[in-house]
Amino acid sequence: MTHPALSDDPNWWRQAAIYQIYPRSFKDSDGDGLGDIRGITSKVDYLASLNLDAVWLSPFYPSALADGGYDVAHYRDVDPRLGTLADFDEMVAALHEAGIRVFVDIVPNHSSNLHEWFQEALASEPGSPARDRYIFRDGLGENGELPPSDWPSHFAPSAWTRTTNSDGTPGQWYLHLFAPEQPDFNWDNPEVHEDFLKTLRFWSDRGVDGFRVDVAHALKKDLSEPFRSKPVFIDFDNPLTGDDVLFDRNDVHDIYRQWRKVFEEYTPPRVAVAEAWVRAERRVLYARPDELGQAFNFDLLLADFDASQFKRIITDNIALAKTEGSSSTWVLSNHDRVRHATKYGLPAGYDLREWLLSNGTKLEVNYVQGLARARAATLLMLALPGSCYLYQGEELGLFEAADIPVDQLQDPIWERNHHTDKGRDGCRVPLPWTADGMSFGFSDGVAHLPQPETFADFAVSSQDGHEGSTLELYRVALGLRRELQSTEDYEWLESPHSGILHFSRANGWQSMTNFGGTAVPLPEAQILLSSSPLVDGLLPEGTTVWLKVER
Ligand code: NOJ
Repeated sequence: MTHPALSDDPNWWRQAAIYQIYPRSFKDSDGDGLGDIRGITSKVDYLASLNLDAVWLSPFYPSALADGGYDVAHYRDVDPRLGTLADFDEMVAALHEAGIRVFVDIVPNHSSNLHEWFQEALASEPGSPARDRYIFRDGLGENGELPPSDWPSHFAPSAWTRTTNSDGTPGQWYLHLFAPEQPDFNWDNPEVHEDFLKTLRFWSDRGVDGFRVDVAHALKKDLSEPFRSKPVFIDFDNPLTGDDVLFDRNDVHDIYRQWRKVFEEYTPPRVAVAEAWVRAERRVLYARPDELGQAFNFDLLLADFDASQFKRIITDNIALAKTEGSSSTWVLSNHDRVRHATKYGLPAGYDLREWLLSNGTKLEVNYVQGLARARAATLLMLALPGSCYLYQGEELGLFEAADIPVDQLQDPIWERNHHTDKGRDGCRVPLPWTADGMSFGFSDGVAHLPQPETFADFAVSSQDGHEGSTLELYRVALGLRRELQSTEDYEWLESPHSGILHFSRANGWQSMTNFGGTAVPLPEAQILLSSSPLVDGLLPEGTTVWLKVER
């Protein structure tokens, strides 16, 4: 197989297709039930067959897995269960050889509690330089028995945990916006800045092309005392102004301007994408050319399968990204959310947390509708200008694994919410490579999360080469997109029918989606690809078609 050589084009990322690999669930090469780096290398041909521009690896660093690897114990190493740095280098070389670039995940808001700096901090006195790399404070109340503020943790309940002194007496408290095993760094400390610059260079020197920046909006906090109150996390109805206590502060951008200087030391410059859960108008600030360059736009992932929602999100985000000189990004699924094939198979706005808690029994998923709509939404997304981030398994049409036995759940959300929220394991189940055999070909051992029986039908081997399969749809669509896209222009086209989104790109490429109830006629054009079969030449509900109109 011949592959496109990697170019030095500094703008390669503007309309890229990037595939997220959740390494522990992608492919296991050594039979321990945990996916690993060599597993990824063994699947480079598969990744190349998807016509991707890049892969993004969720954390593969040494970690006690208190939060699926987002608790990093060492930022410049590979978890020994997943391989070695030599394995990593080999993987990057193989991917590059196949024309695929590599993003790694940078987790700068917090480390693992097992990180040597945090261990040193625990062993040091209050007020010491070692403690100043994190956020330690005395408690309130007569004996310091109350947390220093009312700040909540994302994984509930409090964002503060009390330490124990070496003599066994209760000590100071430390801040963790996520699990207690994820202490927050103090970004007012220059050593923290220096260490992350070192990490960015370390991976860039190893050939990494880009970085996904975890909770990019949280690094800077207002730590002046007494602490301001923070009763809620993200209130999308109440736009942040840059002066919030914990999120999206204006001064966080100084950090990314510093990082940009590192990116520019390389050819082509390294790129980055911010994970910043803020409103669209503030999100694009992270994507400025002198900062990270791009930011995840999660609006489609949060939306219903609805023409007017999609149209507004698309129009607004493309325009907003443009104002900052960036291109928009698009996401339908990732490792934190219920898979979009499942979401679209349930009623719009349905409470997915409740549904997961019932092990998916509360309401039966309409699998036919869910998959058809997922394929339609994907085809629409792939026709948009901007970068698309795809999540492993969506190319197989995988559904959420809703019935993982609770004693096998790994997500800290389950325990920390007193068993009222099953968390995110259902979208992190290892991929099925073969329809039968141990762990559906994921591993020679027992997969670290149980795979549903239905995975057999979705396995790569069940779809490979089968015309009309979801896997083949992704391959063809991504290949065509690569050929067809040129400028970042697009134009909405009017439709006489309701529930239709129809737009054109350069050179006569058009995409048309039917979100509505009745099948509609197509304009006169060559049909390039359809997410589901047409019915009597009409575009049925839950279907996207790509057209080529000769001018
Ligand atoms: C966002 C990541 O996507 C999520 O998986 C993780 O739990 C939090 N950040 C904390 O790192």
